[in-house]
Amino acid sequence: MLDQIPELGHDGSDKQDEIQRELKFALGLKCFNNSKWEDSITHLWRVAELSPDDSSVHLYLAFSLFRVGELRKSADHFDISISLEEKPQSIIDLKQQIFSEIHLNLPGFLQGAHAPERHVFMTTAIDLLNTQSATFNILEIGSYGGSSMLTWSDAAEKFLGGECQIVCIDPWGESGATLHNPIMNQNLKSKRAYDVFCHNATFCSENVEVSPIRGTSKDVLPTLDKDAFDLIYIDGSHYYADVLHDLAQCSKLLKPGGIICGDDLELQLSECDRAFVKNNKSVDFVKDPMTGTQFHPGVTLAVAEFFGKVSCFKGFWAMQQDSKGFKKVSFSDATGFLANHWPPDFHDHISNYFKTSNELGEFL
Ligand SMILES: C[S@@+](CC[C@H](N)C(=O)[O-])C[C@H]1O[C@@H](n2cnc3c(N)ncnc32)[C@H](O)[C@@H]1O
Repeated sequence: MLDQIPELGHDGSDKQDEIQRELKFALGLKCFNNSKWEDSITHLWRVAELSPDDSSVHLYLAFSLFRVGELRKSADHFDISISLEEKPQSIIDLKQQIFSEIHLNLPGFLQGAHAPERHVFMTTAIDLLNTQSATFNILEIGSYGGSSMLTWSDAAEKFLGGECQIVCIDPWGESGATLHNPIMNQNLKSKRAYDVFCHNATFCSENVEVSPIRGTSKDVLPTLDKDAFDLIYIDGSHYYADVLHDLAQCSKLLKPGGIICGDDLELQLSECDRAFVKNNKSVDFVKDPMTGTQFHPGVTLAVAEFFGKVSCFKGFWAMQQDSKGFKKVSFSDATGFLANHWPPDFHDHISNYFKTSNELGEFL
């Protein structure tokens, strides 16, 4: 990521607005230089209104908008800046450079950063299934900015011979469930999460097709074909009633032999204070008084009621359908890896973890 942008001339127009414009511009630049992107947007927006033909204002605005995840607006302001320059090549290059990267570096966007091992187990589930079907179908509930989608995509590229379709369900807006992380709620409310998801979806592997469906799982799941998915991943609302609904619906959508799995099972019901779990089943994330562990009580309760005890790997749970219902899975003969969109630090941390863990057959 660049930390400097090219020096460009700018041109005030009306004398009466000049002082206000200069002040706003100075303030905007100060915020910009201090990485206070929201504030720099507020000030630069006003400057752009006062002098719409100033290419440099649009450029600073474009960069600030990119940093907060307003990718469409950012692209628009890059284009305005380009159109106003006589020699726009440096801006064209800058735009191309920053839009040619996966964008998960905003606060709250690299989901699962507290437990990246889970993303390794996700890839292992694909290796375990490794069906030779012409098209491998994945259903994901709760996609946010696309971190898990990119993990599925990398796994599909590495482990599947054929095509892979990932259907991603998320309202990317009002869902009725509040997440414990206020920044995530803000990213969803402002629609930035959807922009970021769409941008990141363009980085999926060649054999992967992503189909986003905007809506809650309650609205969308009943419209999907039965027995259609090889793997279903549940990471949407964590409230008990929603998770139970997702489990019941998804079990009908799974192909025979398919895997149903999900995120955020920090504790199974047998490991924690049951009364506390039941009293907090509509809370996103809370500390279990018995173990002191932060967990998602709605996920714990719904998974336990639907399956009983499940196979669980650092919070990633998975069950495989068989002729009798569902069985636990073992990854001890399967292979996993950490997807490319994870920064280098995580790769070091994860490879240290798998040096001593015996949960996988092989870690690549
Ligand atoms: C924890 S985030 C998912 C993170 C994502 N899997 C990733 O790796 O970045 C939860 C997502 O679930 C979505 N969500 C909440 N309630 C939902 C529902 N009822 N149906 C579908 N998605 C829902 C939210 O909008 C949010 O984007």
